[in-house]
Amino acid sequence: MKRDLIRLLDYTSAEILSLIGSADMLKKQKGMLRSDLKGKTVALVFQKPSNRTRVSFEVGVYELGGNCLYLGPEEINLGKRESTYDVAKTLSRYVHCIVARVYHHKDIAELAQYADVPVINALCDLYHPCQALADIQTIREQFKGFKALTLAYVGDGNNVFHSLMMACVKVGINVRFAGPKGYGPDIKIVNAAKDIARGNGCKIEFGKNPKEAVKGANVVYSDVWVSMGQEKETAKRIREFKGYQINKDLVKLADRNYIFMHCLPAHRGMEVTADIIDGDHSVIFDQAENRLHAQKAVLLKLLSKKG
Ligand code: CP
Ligand code: NVA
Repeated sequence: MKRDLIRLLDYTSAEILSLIGSADMLKKQKGMLRSDLKGKTVALVFQKPSNRTRVSFEVGVYELGGNCLYLGPEEINLGKRESTYDVAKTLSRYVHCIVARVYHHKDIAELAQYADVPVINALCDLYHPCQALADIQTIREQFKGFKALTLAYVGDGNNVFHSLMMACVKVGINVRFAGPKGYGPDIKIVNAAKDIARGNGCKIEFGKNPKEAVKGANVVYSDVWVSMGQEKETAKRIREFKGYQINKDLVKLADRNYIFMHCLPAHRGMEVTADIIDGDHSVIFDQAENRLHAQKAVLLKLLSKKG
């Protein structure tokens, strides 16, 4: 049966650890050309703009010996030009995998349900699993393991946070969240993550106070206050997130060897100040690089017998 990557909840801890192990191995190969995907085509169906996700998938598929086809919003126009069902069934006759970036989770879920080939979530309003895999790969590189680590996420309880929280508890990292009232994560996703945390000996804590969240944390993480598709709420969000900036006063409270993480794109002066995101503790470009390796690991798992 085919396997998709829509959300990390559907992957066991062992599978997630195996994926990042494979990503580490691929990283060591430094872009060596392989032939695992020879004769295979991967379609990138993107409804939103992208730098990292699009480029790392295109390069990754090339390095694995496959062919990549980018289909932007003008081409497919999912659910508008034709139904998601027809898109899924048609693409399944041409390509071996669909990587999709959509607005609504329902669209990626339907693509996965109807496609006869693996579907990979390249970001929807609820999840960003590929980002979270690269993030925990980056955390392990920095700390040589996951034991007794605490990640503090300050800001919006959004798609990036949902997947990051899930990835962290799957590998035993404690998670703390601080964000303004009304912008917390989805309660169902939190409850599922809490169950997994209990089984893996770690915990998830929520609060409104960024200082409490960051105190002693090993990883300080932020994302934009306004995600793609929320542009109409920009003024309101900037007002409400004002006290949730990562800056030098806040990170003074973190562990002295803390790392700063951000999925990018970032807005310097909003969710994080330039001195922090461009400072010595920042690992943002390691995260960006690891997108390539982590996604190659996912492609190998879903598309090749060796994965
Ligand atoms: N982090 C991330 O997914 O970046 P892009 O939106 O540029 O793909
Ligand atoms: N939360 C952001 C992440 C971008 C990679 C968004 O959805 O726009």
